[in-house]
Amino acid sequence: MKPRILAFAGSLRRESFNKRLVPIAAKGARDAGAEVTLIDLKDFSLPLFDQDLEAEQGIPENGKRLKQLFFNHDGLLISCPEYNSSITAVLKNAIDWVSRPVPDEPSLAAFKNKVAALMSASPGALGGLRGLVHVRSILSNIGVIVLPDQIAVAKANEAFNADGSLKDSKQQAGIEGLGQTLASFLMKLKG
Ligand SMILES: Cc1cc2nc3c(=O)[nH]c(=O)nc-3n(C[C@H](O)[C@H](O)[C@H](O)COP(=O)(O)O)c2cc1C
Repeated sequence: MKPRILAFAGSLRRESFNKRLVPIAAKGARDAGAEVTLIDLKDFSLPLFDQDLEAEQGIPENGKRLKQLFFNHDGLLISCPEYNSSITAVLKNAIDWVSRPVPDEPSLAAFKNKVAALMSASPGALGGLRGLVHVRSILSNIGVIVLPDQIAVAKANEAFNADGSLKDSKQQAGIEGLGQTLASFLMKLKG
């Protein structure tokens, strides 16, 4: 059975550097035998999580769709921008909505036993590395196995060719390799 991987960036920005990293890692995962679903969180627009709103109206339709996608996949490839040294609000908000249970559902069911690989891109010198520390911690705490391998692409505003590939061939191979590592890990896990 092919492992199924859900791939997305924690940015809504049209020209997002993180959105550009996702297909590179996805290619690596596909080459290694995984099935990858690429999504844009912009297509899953969600209100800021509000427990009153949830109590009155339940989980919004886009939250249900996103949660179902998590259920349908074994792995997560996430490219995480860094805002003020941490996770972006849009990524945390998506995680918060997906984490909400419906009646009789075990806690954090959409996250338990998923495996994630993380990457980031930033115009800054650290490439968003500090934000990854927080994303790793959040995901680990909700039952996701986060692989030790991760890559932060610094000076992202200068890093890409017009065709979307990375100028640095080692970096390109590294991001593809991240996808491959996730796919191989999932294949071992699924036997
Ligand atoms: C509110 C805000 C805070 C930011 N804080 C950081 C930061 O702490 N570290 C960093 O490297 N870049 C920071 N940046 C710059 C982002 O890395 C940059 O906007 C990047 O393009 C965002 O990712 P994206 O291109 O995938 O949307 C910040 C940007 C915004 C809008």
